[in-house]
Amino acid sequence: MKHVFIKGMDSEAPVIVLFHGTGGTERDLLPLAREISPGSPVLSLRGNVLENGMPRFFRRLAEGVFDEEDLIFRTKEVNDFLDQAAVEHGLDRHNFVAIGYSNGANIAGSLLFHYPDALRGAILHHPMVPRRGIGLPDLTDVPVFIGAGMNDPICSPEETEELSTLLKEAGASVTIHWERAGHQLTRTEVDAAADWYHETFE
Ligand code: MLT
Repeated sequence: MKHVFIKGMDSEAPVIVLFHGTGGTERDLLPLAREISPGSPVLSLRGNVLENGMPRFFRRLAEGVFDEEDLIFRTKEVNDFLDQAAVEHGLDRHNFVAIGYSNGANIAGSLLFHYPDALRGAILHHPMVPRRGIGLPDLTDVPVFIGAGMNDPICSPEETEELSTLLKEAGASVTIHWERAGHQLTRTEVDAAADWYHETFE
């Protein structure tokens, strides 16, 4: 997959894995990684799907309606890529923490829903429920930060709560941070995610 890799100064720090939103690129979230964990190695991926020229991590049939078959295929593709990248760059595969926004939060959420050891933790900015009606892997001790907007037209507060409940039922420890805002990523949400990261991983 097209990506950026930054070696990082601190090989013990979590590897930050970045997933952009629809229409973004692997460069979009690099400042977030630098800000939240400056010493970390960084793997920033570009989604392999194009929707009218806009990169995404999986296909959708309409806004908010995911192509489930493609989601499953792309989730495996990303997980396999992370496995290979760990070997190639000598990274600890059990020390990967995702940061994703919107479509990128949804593929990171899908990794959690499908693979028990894909992520050590995750910061999900404005995620949705990636799939319904499946059993989740054991996510005991996997910390998840969810940033959500009370007026998010793409992801309703009810869907945020549903995602939180599903993750908690699988054993994850979930923190929801609410913004009085819509789908955009705000400064205060990024600050809250950074505080949560420092409390959780340092
Ligand atoms: C998605 O398709 O993943 C969500 O609707 C978020 C987005 O607009 O990308």
